[in-house]
Amino acid sequence: MRTLQDINELRATLRNYRLKGQRIALVPTMGNLHAGHLALIATARQHADVVVSSLFVNPMQFGPGEDLDAYPRTFEADQRQLTEAGCDLLFAPSVSALYPNGLAAQTCVHVPEVGEGLCGGSRPGHFDGVSTVVSMLFNLVQPDVACFGEKDYQQLAVIRKLVADLHMPIEIIGVPIVRADDGLALSSRNGYLSEQERAIAPTLYRTLCELRDALAQGESAEQVLQRGKTALYDAGFTPDYLELRDATLKPVAVSTRHAVLLAAAKLGPARLIDNLSVQLPSAATD
Ligand code: PAJ
Repeated sequence: MRTLQDINELRATLRNYRLKGQRIALVPTMGNLHAGHLALIATARQHADVVVSSLFVNPMQFGPGEDLDAYPRTFEADQRQLTEAGCDLLFAPSVSALYPNGLAAQTCVHVPEVGEGLCGGSRPGHFDGVSTVVSMLFNLVQPDVACFGEKDYQQLAVIRKLVADLHMPIEIIGVPIVRADDGLALSSRNGYLSEQERAIAPTLYRTLCELRDALAQGESAEQVLQRGKTALYDAGFTPDYLELRDATLKPVAVSTRHAVLLAAAKLGPARLIDNLSVQLPSAATD
């Protein structure tokens, strides 16, 4: 696997692949890779001749007081894992290479509606940062396909809208959440948890499973969500949100069958997110 930091070198290298008619896949990451990221690389491998991954801890998507400085940086280990997973090219630019004029002067991409509420509500500006850096990476790499994890369900929806609205000829593939044996969704931020907090953390997934089953039985969403919040507080979480939306993140309607439960909750120093799809029963009045 080659590692490139320079934008011009990246462009020249990719031009060669494209001239040979090879299909290019992109997997954007912020590093500190785990099996969730590697599942994206494996999916990318199935859809392209050349797999490019990017590793960039994007300052634009972190709010003031968030964990930009603490975010785990494990470059050599990431390089090794990507090589073993069959990644062909790693693009790892510096902050000044992507934002030469600084963040305040940076042209910004804003995706309305789907980026509002949920994580967009509790982390103002976050999705503008994500949309801007992903647009940049799409422009630099010009992939045929790009893979994103369903763990960041709203992020995936934002990227799908970004690509559709800006007429980018890129196929976006969503990859299912990879979990630890106890159900906790793998995340670079799990490393912030103490041993005690790590033991509590799977309660988030277990709670979502219980709520999903209750909703599937026809219990009212309001009641179920209230119970879920109480369960999270009781376990030691401070929930940011716990919501039921339709699969496109619009509010649930009477006719909605495919819904998704989405949660973000703080546990000690970590903010964990998770989601689970729910099959709602037909209402008796339908
Ligand atoms: P990062 O958190 O490093 O995640 C990179 C990709 O891995 C995202 O598409 C994310 O959804 C996916 N991912 C993370 N944990 C996963 C899991 N347990 N199962 C499946 N997929 C998982 O998300 C970002 O970085 C950034 O916002 C980025 C898109 C790179 C833009 O900066």
